[in-house]
Amino acid sequence: MELPKALITEKQIEEKITLLGKIITKDFENKNLTIICVTKGSILFMADLMRQINMPCKIDFIGASSYEDTESTGKVKINFASKNKDFSNENILIVDDILDTGKTLSRIISYIHEKLKPIDIKTCVLLDKPSRRVVDINSDYVGFEIPNKFVIGYGLDYNEHYRNLPYIGILK
Ligand code: IMP
Ligand code: MG
Repeated sequence: MELPKALITEKQIEEKITLLGKIITKDFENKNLTIICVTKGSILFMADLMRQINMPCKIDFIGASSYEDTESTGKVKINFASKNKDFSNENILIVDDILDTGKTLSRIISYIHEKLKPIDIKTCVLLDKPSRRVVDINSDYVGFEIPNKFVIGYGLDYNEHYRNLPYIGILK
């Protein structure tokens, strides 16, 4: 497989995450923080981001899938193993790889709101493709705004490939 050129380099990702970590640490000071990682695409982002959050926090994982090839099927399937845990005293930060049409994140927010009833829900996405938005939603914390191109790497896949690329590139 031919490797794509970097749209966002490892160094740019690292610097941005350091900055996001500082802002999030300040914003959640003295609050109970649970970070919920949207698998699988966000695992690299989550692992790097949580190391830059300098305060006690818990972590969890939620599965959401809607994509086949480069087009969304529109239906978002949710898979959350911790649905019976008590989140009523938690401030939740959802960490996702990319905000595209907005269907996934809005579905996850409604699910968490209805099922877990936490104190508060905020969102953090590494990438934002605002030109593709279908649902009226914005993320509280955004790493990079990108053009309408299908990107891969740093967790993001094309049919499950390229997730292990350490940088973000555009699929050829
Ligand atoms: P949305 O529901 O359309 O906002 O899509 C969000 C999900 O679609 C993300 O969490 C990704 O898994 C996937 N996705 C959207 N755009 C891309 C892309 O450019 N590359 C890889 N995955 C993408
Ligand atoms: Mg995803």
